[in-house]
Amino acid sequence: MKNILVIGGTGQIGSELIMKLRGIYGNENVVCGYIPAAPPKGILLESGPAEVVDITNPQQIADVVKKYNIDTIYNLAALLSAVAEAKPQLAWHIGVGGLFNTLEVAREHGCAVFTPSSIGSFGPTTPHVKTPQDTIQRPATIYGVTKVSGELLSDYYARRFGVDTRSVRFPGLISYTTPPGGGTTDYAVDIYYSAVKGEKFKCPLKPGTFMDMMYMPDALRAAIEIMEADPTRLVHRNSFNIASMSFDPEIIYNKIREYVPGFEMEYELDPLRQKIADSWPDSLDDSCARNEWDWKPEFDLDAMTQDMLVNLRKKLLVEAEMVEA
Ligand code: SER
Repeated sequence: MKNILVIGGTGQIGSELIMKLRGIYGNENVVCGYIPAAPPKGILLESGPAEVVDITNPQQIADVVKKYNIDTIYNLAALLSAVAEAKPQLAWHIGVGGLFNTLEVAREHGCAVFTPSSIGSFGPTTPHVKTPQDTIQRPATIYGVTKVSGELLSDYYARRFGVDTRSVRFPGLISYTTPPGGGTTDYAVDIYYSAVKGEKFKCPLKPGTFMDMMYMPDALRAAIEIMEADPTRLVHRNSFNIASMSFDPEIIYNKIREYVPGFEMEYELDPLRQKIADSWPDSLDDSCARNEWDWKPEFDLDAMTQDMLVNLRKKLLVEAEMVEA
């Protein structure tokens, strides 16, 4: 990878992935592709090139690929699961139409493509515990339908046209830089904000709702390592189960209370999110990723919680100081 375009560059994953990629491959070699409604700011804007790339506009993708001689595209444009249920047509247009546009540009210009899939690509009939790599994928959400379609389309482009497509199935991602929006796993980010702000947390999911989760530094490493992996070892491509921790609301709440003793939580269920979460696996088996490209997570719930609390406190303090100044 030398010249990289990140589409959806200002979102939860993109805003951090770009900074990590710039650190590895050079600031000038990583382009932040964004939509005008979400322009890059601060260090993301100042540290390297940025261009408007709406994934639903194939010409914009092609123009930026040509201008910067792009050889690798990270396609991070998507609507998350809960918001996608409110806008299913748009979710398909971005998730599948956008991926098709990206793959076509990649086919013409010889680019490798990373497109994340998700725990949301599984459904109610999937084995829920230690979900295998190759198993039933009949999701009940439009988000999941776009993710399974994306896995199939990406494998098709690899087989039919030789496009170097690779992917991982991300668990819920927990981070403090850019908040997620409209996902089912977002509660596991929001709960840290409440803890640091000293607020009572209203949990939208009931106790016993287990889902796979991952701390952002591990997710970023996975996205980079899969694209750097030796292709001769890859039996799978789109998409690899990856995992690091699985918990329910009670477990994460009690972990945070170890560090924030007075922290309180109450349940205020969101029926849509509960239904989606109930259809997803409790935990994934990531042994194929471990065998085929040496995937290994570094953060468990305890290490993540300590790091989240320290960094979120710093971030909220800086933001408060900026408001005062
Ligand atoms: N975090 C996503 C969501 O909750 C799942 O991949 O929609």
